[in-house]
Amino acid sequence: MSTVKKIIGAIYRELKDTLFWMKVPNNSFKEKGVSFHSNFIDEDTCNELKDLAENIFLDKQELNKDSWINIRERETKGKVDTKVKAIFSFNKNSKKLDEFIESRKLQNLFEKVLGYELILRNCCLQYDEPDTETKRSFHTDNNPPPSFKAFIYLTDVDETKNGPFSVIEGTHRKARYLRLKNIYYNLTNNLPTSNMDKYVPSKLETPFCGKKGDLILSTQTLFHRGNPDHSEKTRYVLIFYFSLKKDGPYPEFKLGKAS
Ligand SMILES: [Fe+2]
Repeated sequence: MSTVKKIIGAIYRELKDTLFWMKVPNNSFKEKGVSFHSNFIDEDTCNELKDLAENIFLDKQELNKDSWINIRERETKGKVDTKVKAIFSFNKNSKKLDEFIESRKLQNLFEKVLGYELILRNCCLQYDEPDTETKRSFHTDNNPPPSFKAFIYLTDVDETKNGPFSVIEGTHRKARYLRLKNIYYNLTNNLPTSNMDKYVPSKLETPFCGKKGDLILSTQTLFHRGNPDHSEKTRYVLIFYFSLKKDGPYPEFKLGKAS
C-alpha cells in the first residue's frame, strides 16, 4: 500500500478515535489517558509472584507449557530494551494469579473507568534490569484504535532511577497531529509506525513511581516509554494486555512467542 493511502487510513482512524473517546465517561483517565491506584494487591502476593518469576528464570523446567519466555535482547538483535525479559501467560504458573484474574476485580475497575467492555488478552510478568542505553524512546504500542494495559508493580519503584512507566499525559487525544507527523516520518524512513520520538510535545513526561502492589491503568496510544534514567534496581511488573471487546474476536495472542 502506498504511503499516501496509509496516511489517509491513519487520519481516518484518528477521526474514529475522536468519536470513541467522546463516549468515555468524563474522568481523569479520559483526560490524561492514565490513572494510578495505590495498594491494588497485597505485599505478600507481590513477593510470592516475584519469587515465582525468579525461580522460572533460574530453572526453565518450572515454566508451565502454556506459558513462554521472551528475551528482548534476542528479539531486537541487541539493539532495543536489551535488559528486558518477560514471561507471557504468567498466570498459567500461579493459581493465585489465575484466581485474581477470575475475580475480575481489575477488569471491572478498568471497564468502569473506560465505559467500554474489555477482553483480557494476556497477563505477562516483565523483568527490567537497569538500562540507560537501549530503552526504547517515546512510542505508542499501537496507533488508534486504542489498546489498553494495566501495570502492577511487584517491586517498589520509588524514583526515576528505578525505571517507572512514564507517559506524556493527554497525548492519546491531544497529540493527533504529532502522531500523524511521526507516522508519516516513520513510513518514509522505513521505521515502525509506532515510534513517537521524532516529534514530541513540549509537555514534560510524567513518571509513575509507586510501591509494590500499586496499579496503573493506561491507554497505549499515549506517548510513553520506560524511564531512561533507570540506573538502579531491577523492576518486576505484571502487565495485563486488554483490547476492546467490541472490536473482537481477536486472534490467538502470540506476542513474544518464538515463531
Ligand atoms: Fe509500550
